[in-house]
Amino acid sequence: MGSETIVLLSSREIEKMRCAGRLAAELLHHLEKMVQPGISTLELNDEAESWTRSHGAKSAPLGYHGFPKSICTSVNEVVCHGIPNAKQVLKEGDIINIDVTPTLDGYHGDTSKTFFVGTPSPSAKKLVEITEECLRRGIAQVKPGARIGDIGAEIQEYAESQGFSVVRDFVGHGVSNVFHTAPQIPHYGTRGKGKRLRSGMVFTIEPMINEGTWEVEVLADKWTAVTKDRKLSAQFEHTIAVTDSGVELLTLREEEAHLQFAS
Ligand code: MF3
Ligand code: CO
Ligand code: CO
Repeated sequence: MGSETIVLLSSREIEKMRCAGRLAAELLHHLEKMVQPGISTLELNDEAESWTRSHGAKSAPLGYHGFPKSICTSVNEVVCHGIPNAKQVLKEGDIINIDVTPTLDGYHGDTSKTFFVGTPSPSAKKLVEITEECLRRGIAQVKPGARIGDIGAEIQEYAESQGFSVVRDFVGHGVSNVFHTAPQIPHYGTRGKGKRLRSGMVFTIEPMINEGTWEVEVLADKWTAVTKDRKLSAQFEHTIAVTDSGVELLTLREEEAHLQFAS
């Protein structure tokens, strides 16, 4: 995996990634208030698009390999790449992952969060909380000299210890002025394996964790990935930079400011 060269970003480029990442985090926070029973995923999309433009940025997903909308909205059994739709109206008890990627001055901030619509069932609540903890534990592995496999191993061990499974078909990725580049960051794997992390690498960690089987299916629209057993799936994503001392979260939201990610 990852035969492509991994680019190390300059401090000037990392500063641009900070600006894009901050905007992405703010966009997710902005959309959160709208997540209520009765809203359609298209309304969320349209607000994201206009907010992004009004902040001098563009929506990277729009037109990316033909993706038709500005954000991904993945409800319940949808694992990722759900397409916003006027007919898809959120209802009490749903979970929805909103994945945003604005580009600012050419650089990408890629982040997602799974939200509750109203009050979740106990099982949905557990899945979402464990998935967020998977992301945190994956991030805590990041420091120069650690291996890419350390991230996936940590996430897989924790998810499976809680009775959940890790999606294999979609992985984290290098991100910069390019949306998806080397390295690939699997959310499963073996400690001590894979390339060593180096200061200046910037990539996403974006575990998709399933209640049932890890297997996914892509629907006839060629985008929407769903769990094969139609049980729930949750996801959280941050864009991070490897620093000399550990890790910097480029898409940290204000609500997460208290969290410690030191490795
Ligand atoms: N934001 C997604 C990711 O985390 C990618 C979406 S690509 C799209 O990598 F085309 F589906 F929008
Ligand atoms: Co994303
Ligand atoms: Co991503």
